Parts: sequence; structure tokens; C-alpha cells
Amino acid sequence: MFKVKPLEPDRLPALLRLMPKAELHMHIEGSLEPELVFALAQRNGLVVPYPDVAALRSAYVFDDLQSFLDIYHAGTLVLRTEQDFYDMAHAYLARAAADRVLHAEIFFDTQTHTGHGVSADVVISGLHRACVDARAEFGISTGLILCFLRHLSEHEAFECLEQVLPQRDLLLGVGLASSEFGHPPEKFARVFARARALGFRLVAHAGEEGPPEYIWSALDVLKVERIDHGVQAVKDTALMARLARERIPLTVCPLSNLKLRVFPTLQQHSVRQMLEAGIVATLNSDDPAYFGGYVNENFTQTFKALGLTAQHAWQLASNSFEASFIDDARKRHYLERLQACFETFD
Ligand code: ADE
Ligand code: ZN
Repeated sequence: MFKVKPLEPDRLPALLRLMPKAELHMHIEGSLEPELVFALAQRNGLVVPYPDVAALRSAYVFDDLQSFLDIYHAGTLVLRTEQDFYDMAHAYLARAAADRVLHAEIFFDTQTHTGHGVSADVVISGLHRACVDARAEFGISTGLILCFLRHLSEHEAFECLEQVLPQRDLLLGVGLASSEFGHPPEKFARVFARARALGFRLVAHAGEEGPPEYIWSALDVLKVERIDHGVQAVKDTALMARLARERIPLTVCPLSNLKLRVFPTLQQHSVRQMLEAGIVATLNSDDPAYFGGYVNENFTQTFKALGLTAQHAWQLASNSFEASFIDDARKRHYLERLQACFETFD
């Protein structure tokens, strides 16, 4: 392990902002800022059911995951054209690059959009074009991960998978998102088996609000390589031991957990406990437009609340590259950049 030199606590936020990192858990539809909602609505001749940007933003107060998902799905109604998806993704990638994100693995839905008449092809083409341009403009590398919506049926997930196959080469993996309670991972066992056979990388949201059993079945039934959230694992010591032993990464999203009341305060968040148990935890923004901050805001607020140190910062950034789906040579390159940042920072 790289031994980090001690740092004055007031210098830590600057280091967090400057250090290279990967972001592995963010939903591109969750980066749709209220300003862009209004701009896209106007471009598409649609009416937003709020008088202005401030009123829309002030509606972003949630009791739980479902209350958030209702507003999040309503926001996606303004996304109609390839250019809309391009603009949304380009804005996120510019913002992420400013947070020193060198690599982003981005979730997107197609079922939300096909549900109101926008084809999967339009969605993927716009997102992909933004990723290509962002690589050239900001040097950020990306991967696109299609999330099945778990409140819909297995049959609908199969249909969704079929619809994206013409653009298979533009996609990195598949995941599982949306309402967790009552929709255990095993509902999608056969779809994930098919995706695996097609060579997709596999991840799933599990243990965000749902029980540790959902994390076990995401691993054992869906055979995912990473768990999104996974914060309920702290209730199960055998699971914690397994996650650490098998180095199964968790993509943790502290501000999301705070806003969706998974933890009453950030001081009570379990990520410190996870790091200290040797789990490959990473910090991510989930739905930054809705939860009050992009990835660096997640870092700075969590570090302040939990009293984390420069050593934790190095660990989290290093974990983010380890947990990513980039090849080993590029991982080594990013880790060297991380080390150079820590060595030259003072
Ligand atoms: N879709 C977007 N954000 C999500 C979250 N935090 N959990 C489940 N599904 C989501
Ligand atoms: Zn998520």
C-alpha cells in the first residue's frame, strides 16, 4: 500500500479535488440539471409542471428511493432527440473532468425512454457521441452501462436487451436499478445469464435500501462483478468478510444515501467502517443533479463528516481504478498519475 505523507487537515479538500479518480456509479439521467430540463422542454415544445428552475430544484426533497424515482422519471420526459442525450451527457462529462475524473462508467436507462416513444437507438447514439467528443475535449475515458429497471418484468428486460443489440459494441455492461424492495436480483437471473453470454460486464444495485440477502443473490445468482451501493452489507458480518476477501467492489454514494434517508446523517454513514474492513469501496455521485453534488462534493462532505484522512483519500481513489472495467495497463497508468499527484501535493 502506498504510504501517504501526513497533511494538514485544512489542505485535505484541495487534495480531494485535485486527485485523479474514476466515477463508477452515476445515472446520466440523474445529471439532468433543472436549467437543462427547462432548456430541453422549450426546445421540444413541452411544458414543465413547475414555474421556474428554483421551484423545480426546491421539489428535490425525498423521503426514500421511490419518492426520488417518481421525480427522476418525470424529469426524463424532456429528453426526446439524439441531441438532447448528447447535451445531457456532454454537460456531465465536462463537470466530471473538472472534478479530475479520468474515467467514468455511466449508467443509462432505455426502458424509461422507450416507454414514452424514444428509441433505444436515439438514446445510445446521443450518449456515445458525447463520450467520443469528451474524450477528445477533456481526455476523459468512458463506458456505457445499460440499467434494466427492476420494477418492470423479466420479459420487458429481455425486450430491452434485444433492442440494444444492434449497438452492442458501444456498450460496456448491464446493471440493475430502480425500486429495490420486492424486486430481488433473482427476478433477472435469466436476463443476466444472457447478457453474460453476450460478453457484457455485470453490475447491480443491491443493498441500497434492500436487505443483505439481495447482495448475496446479486453475487451468486446474477454473478455481478461489482455491487452498486451495498451499504446494507454492514448488517451481515459473513457478507462483509466475503466482500473483503474476494475484493468485490462497492460503488458507494454518500450524498444519495443522505438525501434518500438511507442514513439519517453523513456522520452515521458506513463507508469508513467498510474501508477499515478492507472492502474495495469507492465514492460516487449517483444522481448529482438531484442529490446536491458531483463526485468531489461527495468526497469533501463525507471526509468532513467522518473525519477521513489523506490515506483514506488515496485508498478510495486507488479503489476506483481497481474497481473499474479498464484494462490492467491503463489501470497502472492511472495509478501512477494518482501516486504522482500525492507525491507532488503540498
Ligand atoms: N436510478 C437512479 N438512481 C437510482 C438509485 N439510487 N437507486 C436505484 N435506482 C436508481
Ligand atoms: Zn444508482
